[in-house]
Amino acid sequence: MINIFERTSLIRSGSITTEELNDAYGKGACECPSPNEQMLLVFSQERPFDLVELEQLLISVGWSQRPMRKVRSALDHSLLKVGLWKHDQRFPRLIGFARCTGDGVLEATVWDVAVNPIYQGLGLGKQLMDYVNKSLKDIGITRITLFADPGVVAFYLSQGWVLEPKGHRCAFWYAN
Ligand SMILES: CC(C)(COP(=O)(O)OP(=O)(O)OC[C@H]1O[C@@H](n2cnc3c(N)ncnc32)[C@H](O)[C@@H]1OP(=O)(O)O)[C@@H](O)C(=O)NCCC(=O)NCCS
Repeated sequence: MINIFERTSLIRSGSITTEELNDAYGKGACECPSPNEQMLLVFSQERPFDLVELEQLLISVGWSQRPMRKVRSALDHSLLKVGLWKHDQRFPRLIGFARCTGDGVLEATVWDVAVNPIYQGLGLGKQLMDYVNKSLKDIGITRITLFADPGVVAFYLSQGWVLEPKGHRCAFWYAN
């Protein structure tokens, strides 16, 4: 057992112990390289999301609100959910998010990649995608797809993503 004073002393300036990481963000959580040493950032696949906070993040990047019930179900059925958290001992803030669907073995598709506008342009979107790609690779998935909004195609291209040639092999079905 460790008391609160010992716990506080475990936190170094600009860093966090593995024990603290696992306590607050779940097993496997890891630090995200931060552009500012005062700001500790954490990737987590296990820390539960407050659906209101998640929706606020997605709305902040310009996306429309979705029914909470559907969002919850989509998260439940996702292969991978990544939160990028700005660490605070009491109130960590969700500043980035991405999730993937897939069969868990061969293929995955990335959805809902978002970084809060306040934190954009600091390299965090790239870090988030590197983390997603590595996490998928760790479970053996090397074929990853995504659907980029026209305004962010260059963001993905600069990281090595390849556009499907001339749209010949890509098909969409919109039910309404
Ligand atoms: C797209 C998004 C995740 C990028 O996050 P970010 O933290 O601002 O990106 P980064 O700072 O890591 O940028 C990495 C590189 O991509 C470039 N880049 C970032 N956004 C870009 C864009 N929209 N178009 C072209 N290049 C972009 C940056 O200039 C940077 O280039 P550099 O390495 O030469 O400096 C973020 O802008 C966002 O949440 N956008 C709204 C939601 C969205 O459109 N998501 C994608 C859905 S397909």
